[in-house]
Amino acid sequence: MTLPAPSRPLTRAPNPRSLHVMTWGCQMNAYDSGRMADILRPLGFTPVPTPDADLVILNTCHIRERAADKLFSELGRLRTLKEARPGGMLIAVAGCVAQAEGAEILARAPYVDLVMGSQAYHRLPALLDALSLSGAPVIDTDFPAEQKFDHLPSDQASQGPIAFLAIQEGCDKFCTFCVVPYTRGAEQSRPAAAILAEARRLVALGAREIALLGQNVNAWHGDGPDGKSWSLARLLAALAEINDLARLRYTTSHPRDMSADLIAAHRTNSKLMPFLHLPVQSGSDLILAAMNRRHNVDLFRRITAELRANRPDIALSSDFIVGFPGETEADFQATMRLVAETGFALAYSFKYSRRPGTPAADAPDQVPEPVKNARLQELQALLRLQQDDFNRAQIGQQFDVLFTGPGRHPGQFAGRSPYLQPVIVEASTLRTGQIAPVRVTEANPNSLMAILDHTHDRREHQAA
Ligand code: SAH
Ligand code: SF4
Ligand code: F3S
Repeated sequence: MTLPAPSRPLTRAPNPRSLHVMTWGCQMNAYDSGRMADILRPLGFTPVPTPDADLVILNTCHIRERAADKLFSELGRLRTLKEARPGGMLIAVAGCVAQAEGAEILARAPYVDLVMGSQAYHRLPALLDALSLSGAPVIDTDFPAEQKFDHLPSDQASQGPIAFLAIQEGCDKFCTFCVVPYTRGAEQSRPAAAILAEARRLVALGAREIALLGQNVNAWHGDGPDGKSWSLARLLAALAEINDLARLRYTTSHPRDMSADLIAAHRTNSKLMPFLHLPVQSGSDLILAAMNRRHNVDLFRRITAELRANRPDIALSSDFIVGFPGETEADFQATMRLVAETGFALAYSFKYSRRPGTPAADAPDQVPEPVKNARLQELQALLRLQQDDFNRAQIGQQFDVLFTGPGRHPGQFAGRSPYLQPVIVEASTLRTGQIAPVRVTEANPNSLMAILDHTHDRREHQAA
């Protein structure tokens, strides 16, 4: 069913209720969960930390197998809670599994009240109205003509010093392994003015770093406030003019859309952090072609070389898939060579997972599970070494850390390095949102220990 977007202000008084949102999947899903809470706040919903709540939303991911199994086992647990709860409970399934499976979810779990796809959550108030009127389960998995983002409320909860901002959604690339073009729909870019307004709001709420999000974020292009067509590099330049905003990132990029002006922005835009997540998936041209990635290994090599020429301290991160249909040992070794020659600070690697409805799922030459397991282990061992090397190379280095709050132990404060590493210092004088120079003293597998670097600090003050 399609319901109108909520263009009118709510007339009824808010009814105090509790809300619990569980989120799986990518940063876009995490952003969406935050925005759902923003939409529901004026209706009286307050987030609570446990699923003992009046409304529970499961924001799901469909990227690899077993996502649906995970959903149904979670739903089983919620059903017991729902039946035992005196005030009852509304259960909503949102996100990419909801988009892909739709009515099947209600067929298998009839105690679910609401199924809404990834493009429907701005209609949550209307969907809840429909639910309370009819009492029957409601399903909305349409891709509406209107842009979801245009209908989101402007009063947002603070995300803290590090905030996410969705600027682009959907994908037109159709890699043969991937469900995203089906679950998120066609590529859509938000207008620059809306993005700049949201960025200013986030900064007013305490953000010092903003990560721009999109399934294909560097395909973003939009009408600028000056009437001209803007590229992502131009948008990043405009965002860099916001005074209290200190750091910018964007994720996830596709090699095909790494334009020359975006690469140059890594030199010219001083707020752009020296870290880029650029998935390559495979180091074999044959596999890249079979994946329909529409670029070869050489393009990836040239992009990384140009990025490093523009920003010598840039650190790279990537995604890899092993055991894609038809992948031979030689193809896999080509991936190992590309990793060895590129050097990644961080990387995510996955076994190919057959996704129903995607072209590669029906390929005859599926790679046996034990082979996939062995390749994944070999690749992950190399990536682990590279990550450890990268972290160890930071020992003795000085850089600015954006502090996000107290650490796990008393007296500690934690923050993020320019390369996204968690950094921990012993200090009592820091505040959340502060950016301060440190010197790294110790590298652990997933974090760095550091001391505040007062010498560096003094130099900065003298220069100022
Ligand atoms: N839009 C991004 C990310 C897409 S999903 C991009 O184009 O890179 C995140 C990662 O999940 C992908 O980069 C890919 O490595 C992995 N992935 C997607 N589909 C998969 C599948 N069917 N099996 C295994 N890994 C997959
Ligand atoms: Fe999926 Fe490929 Fe689109 Fe990334 S570019 S979301 S991997 S189809
Ligand atoms: Fe998963 Fe959907 Fe994100 S499938 S990775 S939640 S776009």
